[in-house]
Amino acid sequence: MTKNTSNWGILGCGWIAEQFAEALNRTEGAVLYAAASRSQKKADEFAKKNKVSKAYGSYLSMIEDPEVDIVYIATPHSHHFANTKVCLEAGKHVLCEKAFTVNAAQLKELIGIAKSKKRFLMEALWSRFLPGMIKAKELISQGVIGEVITMDADFGMNFPLDPNHRLFNPYLAGGVLLDIGIYPLFLSLFMFDKPKVLKAHSLLDDNSIDHTTSMITQHSNGTICNLTGTTRTNRPVKATFYGSKGKLEFDNWWFTPVNFTVELEGQKKREYKFPPMVNGYEYEAIEAMRCLNEGLNESEIMPHSFSLLIMETMDEIRQQCGIVYPKELESIDKPYGLGEMY
Ligand SMILES: NC(=O)c1ccc[n+]([C@@H]2O[C@H](COP(=O)([O-])OP(=O)(O)OC[C@H]3O[C@@H](n4cnc5c(N)ncnc54)[C@H](OP(=O)(O)O)[C@@H]3O)[C@@H](O)[C@H]2O)c1
Repeated sequence: MTKNTSNWGILGCGWIAEQFAEALNRTEGAVLYAAASRSQKKADEFAKKNKVSKAYGSYLSMIEDPEVDIVYIATPHSHHFANTKVCLEAGKHVLCEKAFTVNAAQLKELIGIAKSKKRFLMEALWSRFLPGMIKAKELISQGVIGEVITMDADFGMNFPLDPNHRLFNPYLAGGVLLDIGIYPLFLSLFMFDKPKVLKAHSLLDDNSIDHTTSMITQHSNGTICNLTGTTRTNRPVKATFYGSKGKLEFDNWWFTPVNFTVELEGQKKREYKFPPMVNGYEYEAIEAMRCLNEGLNESEIMPHSFSLLIMETMDEIRQQCGIVYPKELESIDKPYGLGEMY
């Protein structure tokens, strides 16, 4: 690609699609060219509200538009594999929301397709790209708080119980782990890499998906991480690293545009602030466009291997906790079109 702008197409016009549209509209080099919904009316409304040039009433019709360079997948987890596969096979680059797929086998399949088609593929785990998150990792790696003994990270919210919402629907690969438990898990994997010890336990609903999952990981540097996600109660959404010389503490809502403090023993607390340029979603878009402009099919900031580590770790957690999805959601052999059967 030689041009310095990217024509984006948004696939699925739900909540996150709106946030991402706002980021694209205010980011240099990004053109919010198209949006696709299963309903033409919804696509038209989304396009009008978010200043999108083209509104498609089916996903396929947008994917077939040769003007679309890169597709942002904003559908439920259950649909990411099928949606991404169709886009890659049609020659589109893809930025796909977290959780990337339902399982690691599906992600391996997608990575294989992206490689053979020479297309860019990246997971939109926005926290990874935030400047504050990157700075916190730098300080921890430099040993600023000393040896990190423990880390606690939580994401807990009392969501209204609605069996039709994707969060509570096993057919949409709902449950806490893939949706918000992924954030504390991401933090431990990003800061300390693959755990040498992993223990997890969930509270399951009657339909075998989790509403609460707690994980303990231990990493090669010795750090023990206590990680919790829940959709059933409000917990402070906090993350803190406790080291031999002091602590690094993220502000509440630590996975969003990150501010944090460092408090060393006997010293005054130091604040680090990183106001976002837009709403925080711009950083993943900027990284995707940088890769496209440089002809890269994989980001070294969010490489396939790191997304695979997340998916493989979640597979292991699901196994330990008995979190089970309908069999057809796990499949790589019989992808169900664009996922429209659910
Ligand atoms: N990074 C973040 O901060 C963040 C925050 C929230 C969610 N997410 C992720 O973003 C993705 C979407 O979440 P969301 O909260 O935006 O969900 P949402 O509001 O329910 O939107 C999902 C969209 O997917 C489409 N869809 C296709 N098939 C569907 C089906 N069978 N049932 C329901 N929707 C279907 C719908 O779009 P059409 O009707 O237009 O086709 C729907 O509006 C998930 O992967 C989630 O984990 C990320």
